[in-house]
Amino acid sequence: MVDAGRPHALAGLKGSDYLSAADLDGAQTEALLDLAADFKAGRRRSDLNGRTLGLIFTKASTRTRVSFTVAMARLGGQTIDLDPAATQLGRGEPLADTARVLSRYVDALAVRTFAQTELEDYAHWATIPVINALTDQEHPCQALADYLTLRDAFGQLAGLTLAYVGDGNNVAHSLLLCGALLGVNVRVGCPPGFEPDPRMVEQARALAGDRCAITLTADPLSAVRGAHALYTDVWASMGQEEEQSRREEAFRGWCLDETLLSEADSRAIVLHCLPAHRGEEISAGVIEGASSQVFNQAENRLHVQQALLATLLGGL
Ligand code: CP
Ligand code: NVA
Repeated sequence: MVDAGRPHALAGLKGSDYLSAADLDGAQTEALLDLAADFKAGRRRSDLNGRTLGLIFTKASTRTRVSFTVAMARLGGQTIDLDPAATQLGRGEPLADTARVLSRYVDALAVRTFAQTELEDYAHWATIPVINALTDQEHPCQALADYLTLRDAFGQLAGLTLAYVGDGNNVAHSLLLCGALLGVNVRVGCPPGFEPDPRMVEQARALAGDRCAITLTADPLSAVRGAHALYTDVWASMGQEEEQSRREEAFRGWCLDETLLSEADSRAIVLHCLPAHRGEEISAGVIEGASSQVFNQAENRLHVQQALLATLLGGL
């Protein structure tokens, strides 16, 4: 249901893909968070009338897999787990054939894989919406949940500062883009050699314009000083397991601990996409402490994905 009398920012997104946080503009991103808040508060219902989401996950997942499945169930739809090891994909059936066949059966695909180009190939061949459920480059559904959590805590987003410390990875990239769209200042602190992809930083700066600042630093203290949200993620992402010990060495001094938290705004919240490694990128005391919002953040995955699915599948 589109609000009567004024154009709704989400109208027109039916049938679209969501491959990058930058696939939405600022107004659409804000409207999606509003819709997610409505689903969360029980103010909004939507009926997808039995439509089906296929999950193609080449990497492990707890939150994304379960929250997409429950989101579809709550919307009156259903999910099929298309485990690549159990389908012909695992035996080498071409992606182009798989995507075209699946488009005849299901109504959307959520894909978790390594290369962003593989996700783009799914979107190219499929005739249904394709959603990024995490690639090496981005994790846009996570970023939507993260900014909803920040908005829940502060009541609004404009002018706030989110500080991300650690590896300049997929999660950092989507936080940069989505933050820029929402007018949030994003500071990324990384040890040298682990900065986010410069193209993503450039894109975030272009999206931010003069509304908010996108900054990089190699000093953890200046990254977090006065920030309203402190965020970190694992030092070795899925696919980088063999780099674990080299990365532990490189990230020494980058643990999000009580010392870093004490430099942030007194109302600052702590975020982590999970799964977390206590004693590595975050201390046990901080993740379990009063500032931590990590479980509300995980819950918000469900609400933002309900909003996204209702939007892309035309259930509004
Ligand atoms: N945060 C997140 O995407 O978790 P999963 O890997 O468990 O899906
Ligand atoms: N950066 C992490 C996020 C996991 C949700 C990874 O890609 O493994």
